[in-house]
Amino acid sequence: MDAETAHHTVFNQVKKLQKSDAFLKLVHDFTAVKSASLEVTTSGLTFPNPVGLAAGFDKNAELMPVLAASGFGFLEIGSITARKSEGNPKPRMFRLPADRALINRMGLNNEGAEPVTQRLSERSISLPVGVNIAKTPGIHKDTDSSIQDYVFSFRLAVETADYITLNISCPNTGDGKSFEDPELFRKLLMAVLPHRLSSVPVFVKFSADTGDKELDELIRISEELKVDGYVAVNTSNTRSGLKTANELLTKIGNGGLSGIPLQKNADERVVFIRERVEPQKTVISVGGIFTGEDALRRLNAGANLIQVYTALVYEGPQLPGKINDYLRNRLNRT
Ligand SMILES: Cc1cc2nc3c(=O)[nH]c(=O)nc-3n(C[C@H](O)[C@H](O)[C@H](O)COP(=O)(O)O)c2cc1C
Repeated sequence: MDAETAHHTVFNQVKKLQKSDAFLKLVHDFTAVKSASLEVTTSGLTFPNPVGLAAGFDKNAELMPVLAASGFGFLEIGSITARKSEGNPKPRMFRLPADRALINRMGLNNEGAEPVTQRLSERSISLPVGVNIAKTPGIHKDTDSSIQDYVFSFRLAVETADYITLNISCPNTGDGKSFEDPELFRKLLMAVLPHRLSSVPVFVKFSADTGDKELDELIRISEELKVDGYVAVNTSNTRSGLKTANELLTKIGNGGLSGIPLQKNADERVVFIRERVEPQKTVISVGGIFTGEDALRRLNAGANLIQVYTALVYEGPQLPGKINDYLRNRLNRT
């Protein structure tokens, strides 16, 4: 079965099952790990544990009850965009089992900011839920209207989200530039941040492919404009060092690489960011976290929280519980 069809088949079954309290209790009893030693407080929010769901898995906020029951410490919904987006033609998600990786070019498929934030405002779970915002693909011809696209989603999200992540790593501005261009990034922040509420921290998510010099500049601007935290990293367009045969990679084509091949990059980015930001800032590390050891390494390197996506596809729903079990044992011993 192709990777996206498999994802949707399970997704739709679980979506139906999560209406049953008995099902949610069963999931919780099998997977969740609870311990006061796992609790994290950062940017004014308290997380029951540091293991979060990365953006892109529950783009439309449809699985919150079962994800919360599975033992995650927080969820990041989205990316959402101002307008509904179908994304790219299928197939657009591919498994690379030899590398424990995925390649995707989903293209920001989502139902749009209004229905998703409405669903979010009706949630009954108590975990922190962040909303990841990107720009509607394909419709904007200039930077100003692209920025207004973010502002539209931001103003809806700030009413209901526990935190907001600005995803500057996926979409371009419409006129061929990216919001990773420092000047445009500053413009984006200056347009969006006046709409923030003090109780809803704003984080920025960086690509895995941003060079040191550019990242340094983006962090400097973020600190100057009082961004509350950072999420690193998004997927990579690189393909070096993969075990998967070149013919298959060529056949798959473009897309963002995630999973184990991102590990080294994401390990290094935590340190890079932590060295450059005020100590109270939140750093969320994501990219190739498969085990408790991986998670602990990121926390020890300066991350407050971690997120997973690809490992969930390979390891299944027990993953947050396994990571938290490992962390609990380690944290209790030290
Ligand atoms: C199929 C797929 C869809 C994704 N969609 C989004 C998205 O909409 N927004 C976003 O910020 N990141 C998205 N991501 C990136 C993940 O949130 C994460 O940054 C990346 O996959 C690295 O983590 P991992 O190695 O644990 O998968 C997506 C990843 C995958 C695999």
